[in-house]
Amino acid sequence: MEFHIVLLPGDGIGPEIVGQAQKTLEAVARKYGHVFDFEPLLMGGCSIDKYGVPLTDEVLEKAKGSDAVLLGAVGGKVGQSAWYKLPPEKRPEAGLLAIRKGMGLFANIRPAYLFPQLKHRCPLKEEVIKDGFDLVIVRELTGGLYFGKHETTVENGLRTAHDTLIYNEEEIRRIAVRAFDMAMKRRKKVSSVDKANVLASSRLWRQVVEEVAKDYPEVQLEHVLVDNAAMQLVRDPGQFDVILTENSFGDILSDEASEVTGSIGMLSSASLGSGKCGLYEPSHGSAPDIAGQDIANPLATILSAAMLLRYSLDLDKEADDVESAVRAVLAAGYRTPDIMSEGCQKVGCSQMGDLVVKTLLETQ
Ligand code: IPM
Ligand code: MG
Repeated sequence: MEFHIVLLPGDGIGPEIVGQAQKTLEAVARKYGHVFDFEPLLMGGCSIDKYGVPLTDEVLEKAKGSDAVLLGAVGGKVGQSAWYKLPPEKRPEAGLLAIRKGMGLFANIRPAYLFPQLKHRCPLKEEVIKDGFDLVIVRELTGGLYFGKHETTVENGLRTAHDTLIYNEEEIRRIAVRAFDMAMKRRKKVSSVDKANVLASSRLWRQVVEEVAKDYPEVQLEHVLVDNAAMQLVRDPGQFDVILTENSFGDILSDEASEVTGSIGMLSSASLGSGKCGLYEPSHGSAPDIAGQDIANPLATILSAAMLLRYSLDLDKEADDVESAVRAVLAAGYRTPDIMSEGCQKVGCSQMGDLVVKTLLETQ
C-alpha cells in the first residue's frame, strides 16, 4: 500500500523525536512492503521564523490532502523566546490550534496506561496502583473554552477579560459517539466528565451524552464532576476505561493522567475528524531545555506513529508490531534518561529509535 504522510517536526526536541518515528515507519514499510512517502513541512516557531506565521495556508492544505500527519512539538520557552512577544494569535501554539480546527480534528484520543516495566516510576503507592491501569481520554478538541470568544476590554475602568465556553449539541454528540465506539472495543465503560453543578454547557453536555448512551446499552455510563475526576485519577486510576470530556478539562486531566503513568515521554495521542486523515503527536511538549542533545525520549512519538498506522492507514498488525517492539526494548532494559532506573542501560534518543527499528525488523 502507498501512503502520503506529512511530517511537522516543529520546535525544540520535535525534529529529533520525529526523526526516530520516521525511521520506525520506514522499517514498517520495508518489513511489510508498503510505500510511505514523507513530506516534511514547517509549523510552530520554525514557521514563524521563516514565514512570519505559525501555520501557512499551504501547509494546512497539504496536511488536509495527506493520509496522515505526524507532529513533533511546537513552542519554546515562554518569556524567553521572541515568539512570545508576538500577539497570541501569531505564537507557535496558535498554529497547533489552527491545524486542529482547520483539519476538523474534533476528537483527541489520549491513552494513558502503565507499562509494567515502568511501574516503579508511577508516583502512586503500590496499593493504589494494584494491577496498573489502562485508560483513554477522549477530549473534544475543536470547541469549548478554546474556541469560544476571547476578549480583553476595559469595563468600569477595570481591565477585564472574557473567555466563552460554548458547545452546540452536534459538537457534543459526535465526540460522545467516538467515546462510546471506543468503549465498545474496550471494557465498555464511559466516564463523562463535566461541571454540571455550575456550567450550562456542562448541563447540555450531560443531556446529549445520555441521549447517545441509549444507542449503546452495553456500555456503562457514569457522570463525574471534573474536580472529582481529578481526585479519582490519583485515588484509583484503575476505575477508568474511557474518559469523555470537554476541551479544557481534557487538556488538564490528560496531563494529570500522564504524570500518573510516571513518564510523559511515553504517551502518544491521535487527533481525528470525520474522515480517515488524522494528526498524531506525543502528549508532551517541545522541551527546549534538552533540545539538540540527543537525550529526549522518542517513544511517545513512535507510539503515536503506531496510532497513525492503526487509525489513519488501517494497518492494525503493523501498529501492534511497533507497540510490541517498544515493549521489547523496555523489557530488554534500555532507557532514555527521563525513565532511567538502576540496573538499566541508558541510551540516547537516536539509539532508542535504532533499538526499536532493530527489534521490529528482527521479529517475525
Ligand atoms: C495539548 C497542549 C495544547 C493544548 C497547547 C500547546 C495549546 O497543552 O495539546 O494538550 O492546550 O491543547
Ligand atoms: Mg495540554
